[in-house]
Amino acid sequence: MVPRKIAVLTSGGDAPGMNAAIRAVVRTGIDKGWEVFGVRNGYAGMCDGQMEPLGAREVGNILQRGGTFLGSARLPEFKDPAVRARGMAQLEAKGIDGLVVIGGNGSQSGALALSRMGLAVVGVASTIDNDLAGSEMTIGVDTALNIALEAIDRLRVTASSHKRAFLVEVMGRNCGYLALMAGIAGGADSVVVPEVEVAPEDIARDLQGAWERGKAHALVVVAEGARHNAVRLAQHFEQEKGRLGFDLRVTTLGHVQRGGAPGAFDRLLATRLAAAATDQLARGEHGRLVGLMRGEIRATPLDEVVGVPKGIDLGLLQLQKVLAQ
Ligand code: F6P
Repeated sequence: MVPRKIAVLTSGGDAPGMNAAIRAVVRTGIDKGWEVFGVRNGYAGMCDGQMEPLGAREVGNILQRGGTFLGSARLPEFKDPAVRARGMAQLEAKGIDGLVVIGGNGSQSGALALSRMGLAVVGVASTIDNDLAGSEMTIGVDTALNIALEAIDRLRVTASSHKRAFLVEVMGRNCGYLALMAGIAGGADSVVVPEVEVAPEDIARDLQGAWERGKAHALVVVAEGARHNAVRLAQHFEQEKGRLGFDLRVTTLGHVQRGGAPGAFDRLLATRLAAAATDQLARGEHGRLVGLMRGEIRATPLDEVVGVPKGIDLGLLQLQKVLAQ
């Protein structure tokens, strides 16, 4: 059945480009002759009936803004079938028979559960972590990476002035994509990702090597999900500062990476994925995630995506080591 009234929500951690995706869902939906509802605050708002129809003008002037104007939330309770049934009932009460879920792994797991309950749901891959199988790049990653890089470039300047080493911690949950890419693009001496066990001694060797090769600074990019995150590494080296050569400082970038205005890549990706999502619903195809695969927009069944580890390119980790000489 082709839906005539659909809803769109953003869920989980916000990502730059979510607004562009909402705008494209609303406007392509309206173009198809549908009514499009915006759900406030993710699944939490859905369960509370916080949704209203959105016109084309109401999604004007948001394309370039970070965050999500609809609001987002994490709702672990959505795993409970009774909570989901409450959400479904809210949609049914408004005659909504299609849903676009813009979000990452946890959000798409909720989408899969709703799809199994009979709702026509299409997911749009969006998370700065880039840990969602079914999309080589997710909405927000590119902008977050550029923000991390800008910070790393600045840290390199001050590190050089003082002959210091910096441990820079980036987000990514259990995925090392942001750390690896920021490390390569930022010319790091060492990269620590959750996917590969690294001992503090390995990092010490990298820093000592950089010092002995006469480098004026050293940078270690650490993923927050690594067993030895930046703070733990700094604690480990606290007693043996002299041994490293460099004086050591720690910077945790945290949510700064999430709050930026989306760059061109994320605006375009968000727009294309969201438009593909309403096309899917129009064709009566659902229970899928739309993402970027081999440079093209593709839809993959949600059950082949949710909870499926994506991994990172370990070859690039080797390349980083070669480039750090
Ligand atoms: O999933 C996006 C993300 O920013 C992760 O990188 C990070 O671990 C997490 O969200 C932080 O979550 P919160 O914003 O709820 O603290």
